[in-house]
This record gives sequence, C-alpha cells and structure tokens, in this order.
Amino acid sequence: MNVTSRFDVTGHGVVVTGGASGLGLAYGEVLAAHGARVTLIDVDEAGLAREAARLKGEGLDVRGAIADVTDHAALDSAVDEAAAIYGRLDVAFANAGIDSGAGFVAGWAGSERPRVEEGAIERYTDERWNRVIDVNLNGIFATARAAARHMRPRGYGRIVVTTSLAATKVEPVIGSAYMASKAGARHLVRCLALELAAEGVTANAIAPGFFVTNIGGGHAHDPELQAMVAKDVPMHRVGRPDDVKALALFLAAPASEYVTGQEIVIDGGWGLGIAD
Ligand SMILES: NC(=O)c1ccc[n+]([C@@H]2O[C@H](COP(=O)([O-])OP(=O)(O)OC[C@H]3O[C@@H](n4cnc5c(N)ncnc54)[C@H](O)[C@@H]3O)[C@@H](O)[C@H]2O)c1
Repeated sequence: MNVTSRFDVTGHGVVVTGGASGLGLAYGEVLAAHGARVTLIDVDEAGLAREAARLKGEGLDVRGAIADVTDHAALDSAVDEAAAIYGRLDVAFANAGIDSGAGFVAGWAGSERPRVEEGAIERYTDERWNRVIDVNLNGIFATARAAARHMRPRGYGRIVVTTSLAATKVEPVIGSAYMASKAGARHLVRCLALELAAEGVTANAIAPGFFVTNIGGGHAHDPELQAMVAKDVPMHRVGRPDDVKALALFLAAPASEYVTGQEIVIDGGWGLGIAD
C-alpha cells in the first residue's frame, strides 16, 4: 500500500468557515498547498480578499466567499456555490468561532486569578449566551448540514469541526457559553459520524489548546501572556497555526478513512496537567 498517496487531495473541493484568519486559514493553506481547491468562507470581507489574493499569488487555487455562519441561507448558498464550481465537495471544515467575553476569573494562568464580577453567572446576559451558541454550535450544525447534502449522495466526505480543549476542561477565564458550545459541537460530531459512517462520510474534531490567532481581539499575540501560558504547557510553548496543518490534512484526506467520531486534542500536553 502506498500510504503517501492516501494524503493526496489533488482536485478535492474544500470549504472552510472562518477561513480568513487563524486556524481556518491554516486549514485552507495546507489543503490548497496539497492541490485541493479551497473556498474560504468568512464575515471578514477585507481579510478574505487579502488572504485569497495572497494565496492565489502563490499559485494556489483559493477563493473567498462572504457569509455569516449564523445566516444559514447565506451559508447554504456559499457551500452550494463552491460545490458547483468544483463539481464536488470533499471536505468541509466547520471552524468559525468566537470568544465569549469575560469568564468568572481574570488571567489565563498563574496563582493570582481574581474573580471578575462581569463574568459571574448572575450577570450573564441572554445576548452574550445566545450569540456564542449561535456562532459556535448552531453554525457548526448548519455547516455540517450544508456539507452532508453534497457528500452523502457522492458516498464520500470529510467533515472536520474545530472544537477546543475547552470542550473537556473548564477554562474559567472564558465565559461558560464557550465551554457549552464546544462540548455540544464535540457530541454533534459523534452524532454526524454515526449517521454517516456507512456512507463514506467521516466527521471528526480538532480540539486546540492555546493558539496564537486573532480570536477575542487577538489577546494571544501578547508575548507576556504567551510566556505565562507556556509555563503551564508541558511542551513549554503556545501553539501556532502551522501546528494544526498536518493533523488537518490527515483528517481531510482519504488517509483517515477508518477514523470517525473522534476528537483529537492538539495542545502541547496542556490538558494533561502541569509538569515542570
Ligand atoms: N485560538 C485558540 O487558542 C483556539 C483554541 C481552541 C479552539 N479554537 C477555535 O478555533 C476556531 C477558529 O478560531 P481562531 O482561533 O482561528 O480565531 P480567529 O479569530 O483568528 O479566526 C476566526 C475566523 O472566524 C471568522 N468568523 C467569526 N464569526 C463568524 C461568523 N459568524 N461567520 C463566519 N465567519 C466568522 C472571523 O472573521 C475569523 O476570520 C474557533 O472555533 C475557535 O473557537 C481556537
């Protein structure tokens, strides 16, 4: 068996929600670099134009489509249009996600984590809660649904959802809607996987730890915060979007054919505990 050929995604049709930045952009980059045809779907019009132009300039087959994952009709159109252009939809990364604002403590790490009044459950507004669930959970559902409509009839597909270490481990610096949305998305992946397993469509999740992206206003770019978090990460460094590329390619490629319903944590060991 030629294992290398199992990673061949040449000509595969791919959509990535939240593809203009961070992890979604990394997924798009690695698939396109391996010959796939990629549509980055995002609300950030300027970011989409910039990144699609940059990648096209590198000779990659990448285009942008503006759609908000909370607008399910617009999302359906963006996915349908990509599938029509490519004549196939092989891979859908359901990735778009937002931070949920203040949690009930301040600070990502260290022994001093003072309570934050604004993040307390008693003050958690319906608006904050619903917005996070709408993007991070309902958006995943809608993306998977739009993708399955194309994948099931062809008897092939890869649905890859970005969950989080927060689906398992409560991170109190982040508002609880984020944890609930990610835990919901993780279990939804298992539902999708069971339903579609006999039809050549797999569903898996990538659960990142702390990655330097633009989420939450880009707080992760702060070197002091990175150093503080890195102390607690057993590998003593934070994640970079390049770190997810090989895993994304595996889950998106024919190589992962017999893997479904799984969530793979990629966190430098952060979820294991603190070592030294
Ligand atoms: N960065 C981390 O440490 C980390 C850790 C665990 C999980 N995640 C998850 O990774 C995913 C990607 O986030 P990221 O860290 O790359 O952040 P990011 O902010 O760099 O990228 C997210 C992209 O999603 C887009 N987006 C936001 N809301 C949208 C909507 N309603 N419709 C369409 N696009 C929308 C944004 O415009 C942005 O381009 C999210 O689901 C996030 O929860 C991130």
